[in-house]
Amino acid sequence: PLPEPFRVPLPVPRVLQPVRREGDADRYEIVQREATAEILPGLSTPIWGYDGTFPGPTVESRSGRTTSVHHRNELPVPTVVHLHGGRTPPDADGYATDLVLPVGAAGNIHNGPSKHMYMHDPDAVVTMGARDYVYPLRQRAATLWYHDHRMDFTGPAVYRGLAGFHLVRDEVEDALPLPHGDRELPLMICDRSFAEDGSFRYPSIDNTLRTVPGVDESYVEGVMGDVILVNGAPWPVAEVPATRHRLRVLNASNARRYELALDPPPPGGKAFTQIGSDQGLLAAPRTHESVPVAPAERFDLVVDFGRYPVGTEVTLVNRLGSGPTERVMRFLVARRAEDDSAIPALLSEIEPLERAQATVTREFAFRGGLMGDRHGWLIDGQPFSPTRIDARPRLGDVEIWRFVADLHHPIHLHLVNFQVLSRGGHAPGPHGIGLKDTVDLNPGEAVEVIARFDGYRGRYMFHCHNLEHEDMGMMGNFETM
Ligand code: C2O
Ligand code: CU
Repeated sequence: PLPEPFRVPLPVPRVLQPVRREGDADRYEIVQREATAEILPGLSTPIWGYDGTFPGPTVESRSGRTTSVHHRNELPVPTVVHLHGGRTPPDADGYATDLVLPVGAAGNIHNGPSKHMYMHDPDAVVTMGARDYVYPLRQRAATLWYHDHRMDFTGPAVYRGLAGFHLVRDEVEDALPLPHGDRELPLMICDRSFAEDGSFRYPSIDNTLRTVPGVDESYVEGVMGDVILVNGAPWPVAEVPATRHRLRVLNASNARRYELALDPPPPGGKAFTQIGSDQGLLAAPRTHESVPVAPAERFDLVVDFGRYPVGTEVTLVNRLGSGPTERVMRFLVARRAEDDSAIPALLSEIEPLERAQATVTREFAFRGGLMGDRHGWLIDGQPFSPTRIDARPRLGDVEIWRFVADLHHPIHLHLVNFQVLSRGGHAPGPHGIGLKDTVDLNPGEAVEVIARFDGYRGRYMFHCHNLEHEDMGMMGNFETM
């Protein structure tokens, strides 16, 4: 039986304190370990967590200050940490074969990684037990997140809990009168299925996540659950004062897409004022009645609860769901309060990239197909290989990438941010604005994005962020030269 919705208070992940601040760098430490969590009331769920929690602790960084995170792997399998949305040098970007072996596995490199994984990647950098990930963070304020990225096993590892927020802040954003403090809420939305004993139910072929990757045949399109979690709690409820709130929405689901709306909608206006996208503030705010959120996308939204009478129960609903997945969480407008926040008409400066600036247009097709004798997900007919480079942009060049797809595929590029140029041959709709790093493809519809490939030279991944598709081959490499 599913738990009653709107009973569990909304948790907010703990903000991680640095172990040291020195010069222009902050140092953090995270231990990846097994733990249990009470997710469904009265039941205990075994998880894999950063510092043993799900979501992991939130890292908060200043733009331009180096953040280094020491990750120690006490899990029974190798791991790799990727900072999603980070402008990160290639060695710290969490390349899928740059494994951190479990503490204690040292000396026995075969205790964990499946054989084909890094052995066929001469460039893989495998570390024993722990490593430092160093992030220069020369990028604007944005809602980033970190998660596991091990080749072939990202889906089940994230499902067990390996995901957390990493917020980058800067002066531009600080100077704006946006809601802040406890009126700024990170919301990590994801779905899970549970077995009767409270454990997560993920249809892995090999439950040890050591050797054989993949999921049972009937789940190849992606694993979806019937319980919606926000910050790790099922359909939680948050009491809020009747003021503006900033909701940093992240879809951390493996495969589920949402269309978020408010029920009831606020009197006299649209539900959401969008102020930011994947890669930070928009140029100007934009209002929406509902917001579609594909896996890995972020929407920075302001909701004015001051428009509701005190006592109103406002449900965040999912128009793409059915039954239990139609609801996400609830806000209870608890009391009147002063509100000194505002949404400025101009939020930030975004350099528009023009078609004429592009030196190259590349095209990639994202489609299902056969991978050996099994169903897989392919880019231009090929499954992921660490040794095949699919594009070599020159550092600093602007390029147009054109994507076509058979089904929905949320496509993510590491290193860069991009702007959506067109969708289905037309200007992108109202939700495609701002600087993004993930764009959802609709079945049969071409999407063009434009990006400047600057930052660092090296090998980076791009892939579908439906994690089952990613694990089943839908990943490629580009190398900035
Ligand atoms: Cu959020 Cu390559 O991933
Ligand atoms: Cu996909």
